Amino acid sequence: MADFGLIPIAVSSLQPTDAAMMDLYMQRENAEPQLYRASSVPLEQRDLVNLKSRGITHLYIKAADRDAYQSYLRETVDEWLKDSSLSVELRVSRINELFSESISKSFKKEDPEEAIKLSGEFGRLTSTLLNDSQVVAEDMMQVLQHDYTTFTHSSNVSYYAVMLAKELGYGPQDLSEIATGGLLHDVGKIEIDDRILTKPGKLDDAEFRQIRRHPTEGFRKLCKQPNVSYGQLMMTYQHHERLDGRGYPVGVTAEEIHPWAKICCVVDVFEALTSHRPYRQPISAETAFQIMSKDNGTAFDPEILRCWMQLTLKTANV
Ligand SMILES: [Fe+2]
Repeated sequence: MADFGLIPIAVSSLQPTDAAMMDLYMQRENAEPQLYRASSVPLEQRDLVNLKSRGITHLYIKAADRDAYQSYLRETVDEWLKDSSLSVELRVSRINELFSESISKSFKKEDPEEAIKLSGEFGRLTSTLLNDSQVVAEDMMQVLQHDYTTFTHSSNVSYYAVMLAKELGYGPQDLSEIATGGLLHDVGKIEIDDRILTKPGKLDDAEFRQIRRHPTEGFRKLCKQPNVSYGQLMMTYQHHERLDGRGYPVGVTAEEIHPWAKICCVVDVFEALTSHRPYRQPISAETAFQIMSKDNGTAFDPEILRCWMQLTLKTANV
């Protein structure tokens, strides 16, 4: 696709009016991309519905048009984010359109300052969206992606952490910080070899030791950054700790684990179980909770796990 200078855009992020800004292309398997709709020809809502019903999740646009489209989304974000006449799916999809590539790049470039800045913006938008009383957990569960990319995992953990924290009674400022912390929680994985992170099959002891370094690596990256709060730092450092002290990297116990890290721990494991992994298919929310219940009170805070189960099982079809 790069040969044609075209890049994908999620159909779910498009409104008919957006299409006037750019030519839209379609690509069928093993074929060259074809012009689907010139910018001068109106795209209608029924066209978008039709694309979705055919299972077409992405169209393609020219790189230059994408820059213009992203600028437009950025300039109008406060309007579309709070516009409850727009679907939650459209708004989530636009947040992803704005951030998935730039955040992934900043993580890969090992640029913590850029990653923190972008994660902060993402956190602000995410918490604003989820603070909208009309946006319910059910909508969120249905629109989040479950593929296997660092951005998808981190953004899902962020969305879930905010949903859970909101249910636990946290206020808007905390929710915004928790959203950002959720996105950054695995930032230490930058230091871990991709081949280990995506290895299909069992890890050997040396590989496990590598993986277990990521909370400390994340802590190192974030601890000197002035815009990272203590709670966010602890989400990164302590999200693999367990109440019974058998977690890592330190093995601290219940009262020493920051409440935001306990939230992050629950939604991190839930997200990992219910998403695609290189070595297995996603499992249902119900099965995930059966597995997680075995560690209730030993790994997971019972109150937090119960709250997440209630919120999820009441609404989700993950
Ligand atoms: Fe992690």
